[in-house]
Amino acid sequence: MKIAVLGTGGGGRAHAAKLAALGHQVYVGTRDVEATLARTEPDMMGNVPYKQWLADHPGITLRTFGDAAAASDEIVINGIDGHNALSALTGIADSLSGKVLIDYAVPYIYGAEMEHPWPTPWGTMPKMDPCDTDSLGEQIQRALPDVKVVKSFVTQEQETVVNPKAIAGGDHTMFVAGENTDAKQTATDLLTAYGWTDILDLGGIVSARGMEMYAHMHSAIGLTLGLGNHFGMKVIR
Ligand SMILES: NC(=O)c1ccc[n+]([C@@H]2O[C@H](COP(=O)([O-])OP(=O)(O)OC[C@H]3O[C@@H](n4cnc5c(N)ncnc54)[C@H](OP(=O)(O)O)[C@@H]3O)[C@@H](O)[C@H]2O)c1
Repeated sequence: MKIAVLGTGGGGRAHAAKLAALGHQVYVGTRDVEATLARTEPDMMGNVPYKQWLADHPGITLRTFGDAAAASDEIVINGIDGHNALSALTGIADSLSGKVLIDYAVPYIYGAEMEHPWPTPWGTMPKMDPCDTDSLGEQIQRALPDVKVVKSFVTQEQETVVNPKAIAGGDHTMFVAGENTDAKQTATDLLTAYGWTDILDLGGIVSARGMEMYAHMHSAIGLTLGLGNHFGMKVIR
């Protein structure tokens, strides 16, 4: 299949590499192709400059967000920074029309003023907005009614989303939520190809609230276990 991955961060790289390894044609989206390829410094998460990463992953094509989405035949994965994802996606609405958009972004605002900051080893935990009474997944679905939005992948690191068997032999749970049953099946099929065996359908896109807000719990567990200790979540029932 021709699949678009919007985002050049660590998560987008994990999906692009895995999808290419699975034999798909992968189109990665960025704001400005030339500017992204001209970067010479690692990004804020320490990922190598994208040109260097691309050289190690031949066959992956870098395009603008809109051109990458237009090139996909059905599936678009959203890995755009959560605070900027809604405006970036509505700006390419025509290229997304009718497609399945699997969104894993967290609506974090970095550097926001907070009455009660949460200190971490790398600075203050970002603020989540929207949360509680709305979610980024719902905002995207409302803004793009003819796009089939599925919230998924968001509850753990993307390196382990694409390689679930790295944790407990794959005995942990992934979630999907969205309004369109066929789109959720498309996302489930992709997760199955990644190696997932326990995929729980949480119903409508409103469940994106729970998935996105879990990011704070994910951070609390990650801070406790320490950097490099990967983990997943198992729903026992
Ligand atoms: N990494 C993970 O394992 C993980 C796990 C769970 C959830 N998440 C969430 O998933 C999202 C993506 O995470 P990530 O680590 O893959 O990448 P990221 O570093 O958070 O985001 C990178 C992407 O965001 C785009 N971007 C940044 N500022 C922008 C702006 N002002 N307008 C439009 N686009 C902008 C960048 O565009 P350029 O390509 O042009 O630079 C880049 O493609 C985040 O919300 C994150 O919290 C990530």
